[in-house]
Amino acid sequence: MDKALLSVLTGRTPERRPIWMMRQAGRYLPEYRKLRTEVGSFLELCYTPELACEVTLQPLRRFDLDAAILFADILLIPQAMGLDLSFREGEGPVLGTVRDMGGVEALDGGDSVLDRLAPVTDTVGRVAAKLDDHVTLIGFCGAPWTVASYMIEGGSSPDRRTARLAAARGDDWFEALIDRLVSVSVDYLSSQIAAGAEVVQIFDSWAGDLAAAEFERWSVAPVARMVAMLKERHPGVPVIGFPRAAGLGYEGFARRTGVDAVGVDASVPPRWLGDVLSREAVVQGNIDPVVLIAGGETLDRAVDRLTEAVPARRHILNLGHGIVPQTPIDHVERMVARVRHNDGRDASG
Ligand code: CP3
Repeated sequence: MDKALLSVLTGRTPERRPIWMMRQAGRYLPEYRKLRTEVGSFLELCYTPELACEVTLQPLRRFDLDAAILFADILLIPQAMGLDLSFREGEGPVLGTVRDMGGVEALDGGDSVLDRLAPVTDTVGRVAAKLDDHVTLIGFCGAPWTVASYMIEGGSSPDRRTARLAAARGDDWFEALIDRLVSVSVDYLSSQIAAGAEVVQIFDSWAGDLAAAEFERWSVAPVARMVAMLKERHPGVPVIGFPRAAGLGYEGFARRTGVDAVGVDASVPPRWLGDVLSREAVVQGNIDPVVLIAGGETLDRAVDRLTEAVPARRHILNLGHGIVPQTPIDHVERMVARVRHNDGRDASG
């Protein structure tokens, strides 16, 4: 069998429609919860290559997926740049803050950042050595805007107002922070590719926060710079961009940034994905994680609408955002089976 994900991303017709799920390794899996309880700390899982490799592989043992995604987190970069990071039960991440030029200048850069992230690169190599031939390995990082928003807010925030204000004003220190993140993130993705990542995804989870002009300046432009640098260093390695909740900003995003595929959230109608967006880029998405919890015929209908609207050679079937902890495992099985079943009926793929 071919690597269906890589085939789609390089313009070839895949043997089947590729499937993976954002956050596919995680708390909806009992084997993840068990290991997580034994180890006690999420960050320890991330920084212990043997364990991170095991967790990366867990979803692939259960489901017939086409990709593995490195088990790590987008907040490891700010931590490696010198900010304190902890994950408190039920609260999400708590991170040291950066809110002025002094804060940006105090951040570490260069080789010391990559040294701290070396265990993650090690994980990539271990996973690459263990994957079945048809499975593609995805590396990732957060986009500069999304990572900056966590650094400015000091963790999760209901509306990211302080970060949005800095973006709207175009403060010098904010621009300097984005520039630093562009360069560190490219080096980090580059090290993942050197270790065996075959595709990389840039998560801009909070792209939808930005007004149109700020979206161009702080989401599109930094991602475009990252893609240009990556393409120069690693020609032929596909890049997936995920400007979540970008709305009208999805149109032309691939052209403006140079990404090979665009991840889309569940608000986007499948018809538009098929008729408009998939003509300019490969489309990744966009089953609603809540519909996956609902399961049953609700789920079947959502899968059918999507696979009927978007041709398999231009589609990576995924969710519109990460899978959530209360998702029943048999619903994931049902979704994968339904996609495979529809593949058989869709000779147009
Ligand atoms: O997708 C995968 O399976 C690979 C691993 C992965 C994780 N986080 C593991 C994780 C990936 C790709 C991410 C990306 C990530 N992390 C994003 C971008 C995607 C998105 O969901 O929007 C963001 C914004 C983060 C930051 C983050 N990490 C938050 C806000 C939280 C707390 C909320 C939550 O979901 O728990 C995390 C923790 C986290 N990252 C967990 C996992 C498995 C849960 C940790 C635990 O076991 O307690």
